[in-house]
Amino acid sequence: HFPENVRIVEVGVRDGLQNEPTPVDTATKLALIRKLSESGLRHIEAASFVSPKWVPQMADHREIMQALAIEGEKSVTTYSALTPNLKGLEAALECGVREVAVFGAASESFSQRNINCSIAESLARFAPVMERALEAGVRVRGYVSCVMGCPYEGEISPLQVAAVARELSDMGCYEVSLGDTIGTGTPLKAKRLLEAVTREVSVERLAAHFHDTYGQALTNLYTVMEEGIAVIDSSVAGLGGCPYAKGASGNVATEDVIYLLEGLGIDSGVNLAQLARTGDWISRQLGRANGSKVGQALMAK
Ligand code: HMG
Ligand code: MG
Repeated sequence: HFPENVRIVEVGVRDGLQNEPTPVDTATKLALIRKLSESGLRHIEAASFVSPKWVPQMADHREIMQALAIEGEKSVTTYSALTPNLKGLEAALECGVREVAVFGAASESFSQRNINCSIAESLARFAPVMERALEAGVRVRGYVSCVMGCPYEGEISPLQVAAVARELSDMGCYEVSLGDTIGTGTPLKAKRLLEAVTREVSVERLAAHFHDTYGQALTNLYTVMEEGIAVIDSSVAGLGGCPYAKGASGNVATEDVIYLLEGLGIDSGVNLAQLARTGDWISRQLGRANGSKVGQALMAK
């Protein structure tokens, strides 16, 4: 039973670029965001209010979100940003954001290395972020990293993922995105993961955020869509790499996901030809190979 429609959350500008070694200037990012929106993408994660010492590529978060906020209420596209703590949220609110995301993990070691605190501490930090955001009328999405494996701990129990997802959902996240951070998942694992997580959070409130490090992302997405997942996070041209594996692929490419959806008769509202041109454009801007197979094939025609 596949969903009739799938909502794509385009994360290339954030998750993709944060892992690109070449610094990308603000004007190029804004041009990319505009092109993505013009291709029909209605949710674009555009920035990250984190420490520029930790993630230099996201240092222009204010400029990006301020420029996008000027479109204001008129915009049909939601532009969201990551906010790991109150400091990040306050800065994001000053820039007029309408949606933010908090990000936790199902692995203790990953939590420590990524956001410098334990899982329990992270949840305690997110609670006031959530409260303040909801008070300001801003929606909050939640991420759980390492749902099918951790770069430091290896296997992660689906029960642990389910517990963290439940906490984020109970706290007020309208949706919890399940991150296969290092792309080690396979279809059977993905199925078992969903079995455990959907006991705690209903499938309508879950999203799949799969990295393609091992080339399994599309097949895993096919599997979770059969189980009712209808929100997919992906990155134009497969932007990004993996900080734990040099030269590895980034997020699953949006073009590849759209091609899969079209083949299944699932609507996403995205114009694939136009998106492929944008993927080709940003790849050339970055001087990297296009990370989307579908993008490569369409552009070679
Ligand atoms: P910390 O060092 O524990 O925090 O960092 P702190 O409160 O002790 O502050 C230390 C310094 O950071 C201070 O500056 C603060 O002002 C500054 P200093 O006095 O040293 O100059 N600071 C901030 N600056 C800007 N914005 C903020 C902020 N907060 C503190 N919001 C923190 C904690 C979370 C900030 C840090 O660990 C950090 O920035 N980590 C980066 C995490 C990150 O961006 N990771 C990548 C995104 S997550 C991801 O990609 C996974 C996902 O895609 C899903 C998946 O695939 O699994 C979502
Ligand atoms: Mg990610």
